[in-house]
Amino acid sequence: MMFVPLLLPLAFSAIVSALPCLRRNSAPPSWLPAVRWSNRSASDPPRIQRGFISVPIDYENREEGTVELGIVRLPATAAQRRGTLFYNPGGPGGVPSDYILAATETSPNFGQAVLEDYDVVGIDPRGVGLSQRVKCDPDLYNERVSSFPTTDEGFQRLVAHNAALGQSCLDLTGPVLNHLDTTNLARDMELVRRALIDDEKLNFLGRSYGSQVGLTYAELFPHNVNRMALDGILDHTQDETTTLNDEATAYEVTLNRFFAWCNTTLNCTLHGQDAAGVYQSITRKAQEQPIPAPGCVLAEYSACRPDVTGEEIRANVQGLLLFQNATAEFPGWDFLSEAISQAANGNATLLSSPLATSETFAAYAGLAIGCQDWRHESTSLADLRYKINMASATAPQTLGSTQSYYYQSNCIGWPAAATNPQSRLGPGIAKAPPMLLVNSLFDPSTSIVWATAIQRQVPNSILLTRAGSGHTSYQLRGEAAAAIDAFLVDGILPQPATVVHS
Ligand SMILES: *[C@@H]1O[C@H](CO)[C@@H](O)[C@H](O)[C@H]1NC(C)=O
Ligand SMILES: *[C@@H]1O[C@H](CO)[C@@H](O)[C@H](O)[C@H]1NC(C)=O
Ligand SMILES: *[C@@H]1O[C@H](CO)[C@@H](O)[C@H](O)[C@H]1NC(C)=O
Ligand SMILES: *[C@@H]1O[C@H](CO)[C@@H](O)[C@H](O)[C@H]1NC(C)=O
Ligand SMILES: *[C@@H]1O[C@H](CO)[C@@H](O)[C@H](O)[C@H]1NC(C)=O
Repeated sequence: MMFVPLLLPLAFSAIVSALPCLRRNSAPPSWLPAVRWSNRSASDPPRIQRGFISVPIDYENREEGTVELGIVRLPATAAQRRGTLFYNPGGPGGVPSDYILAATETSPNFGQAVLEDYDVVGIDPRGVGLSQRVKCDPDLYNERVSSFPTTDEGFQRLVAHNAALGQSCLDLTGPVLNHLDTTNLARDMELVRRALIDDEKLNFLGRSYGSQVGLTYAELFPHNVNRMALDGILDHTQDETTTLNDEATAYEVTLNRFFAWCNTTLNCTLHGQDAAGVYQSITRKAQEQPIPAPGCVLAEYSACRPDVTGEEIRANVQGLLLFQNATAEFPGWDFLSEAISQAANGNATLLSSPLATSETFAAYAGLAIGCQDWRHESTSLADLRYKINMASATAPQTLGSTQSYYYQSNCIGWPAAATNPQSRLGPGIAKAPPMLLVNSLFDPSTSIVWATAIQRQVPNSILLTRAGSGHTSYQLRGEAAAAIDAFLVDGILPQPATVVHS
């Protein structure tokens, strides 16, 4: 669930008109910052370049000062480079620089021809990675407060927890905490584009939440887009209940695929058992009495809770369901089956939630960005129970536990305003060139329903569907990846409604 994306707000038109100096072909603002290249780290792979840029905290009020962003660039290897490809792997809270620092000729995260032709650039978003980090109080983050309250008192406890945690983040991070939404990231990308390549247009590859980043940029700066490929489509245009229902359904349906997979392969630790029944029994048991997670004291696990509730199992299983086959970054379904099996035997270590251990814990940024991007308008227990009951009707095993629900519940009371709430894509998007959208049919995070909804709002976009399971497709290096590479490298788009199987 850490990798899902999310969405849009009040006044794109106001933002655009307030920023005429950022439009292509207008005179550069006198304050256009430069990228300051810095020395490499001893451990950096060859050719990696690192830099920093200072961008306005508040584009409407530059008196607020600047925030420093970290950038890495991997130059093209071909003698004739095609251009620069900006990359975002998802989140919110994911770290672009991590992926680019790990890129090699054989790395599944980038096609070989893409690395040959393009300078690949990662801008770590405000609050994330090499950029100025979101800081919060780890003890407040670690408080165990239910996001699924059943009493008014429980609802008030949740809101008070959210408010106190958010206030600690504001106090420790400073005013940039109020300016983390995705429109700010899109405008930061535009400044970096101008600082790095000025008269060249932007090429972009975004996975998961990265699709929202790309669409936001394309809506604001359509004339500056060249080739944009988006994989795992986040729909930041729907209301709260539709968003929740779509993601809850996607999680539930993919979980059932996982149970069916268990019956087909010995790779599933639960092979030969009723996997769905085992899952239900551990969540039910853990809801009554948390299941111990004794491994959480061992050094080989970074800190995690010493026991696990049913609510935590439902939240963490969504994350473990993202990738059917393990990737370099994430475990696969075999690991999920082992985690459920061990929990059934009384050891839930592998399903335990991470605990924050410092003021710069990586998960804070995803929450802080999400709270500014996603509506969270429930004001009472009844409002929240309505959403839970609705989602539980369509998702009876997972009960609406999703990344969308996390923002809808855990942002109530957050001190920073939702400055970029969901809204339909604005008219700017129609001026962007044709783009490629990719989604799998059984994606437990970014639902295929989101991809089709976005495809209808983005004229000339082509949606390619992978008839398979798992979140995003590029890293599988199958037919979907080949289509993305063909578009980025040669500008060739697939036929509309193309379906591939890998
Ligand atoms: C880079 O390293 C050189 C040599 O050690 C040093 O003189 C210089 O100040 C460093 N530059 C930056 C930006 O850190
Ligand atoms: C898998 O097999 C088990 C044991 O034979 C059975 O109880 C269960 O219904 C099957 N599950 C699926 C999803 O086919
Ligand atoms: C089972 O695991 C092996 C080893 O990781 C892998 O090569 C194989 O593709 C997996 N099979 C399935 C059906 O996932
Ligand atoms: C619990 O599970 C974890 C992860 O598999 C393992 O490292 C640990 O040794 C187990 N602890 C006990 C007491 O079984
Ligand atoms: C995972 O690997 C198995 C076995 O190699 C393969 O059949 C399956 O299609 C793969 N899943 C995905 C989503 O690529």
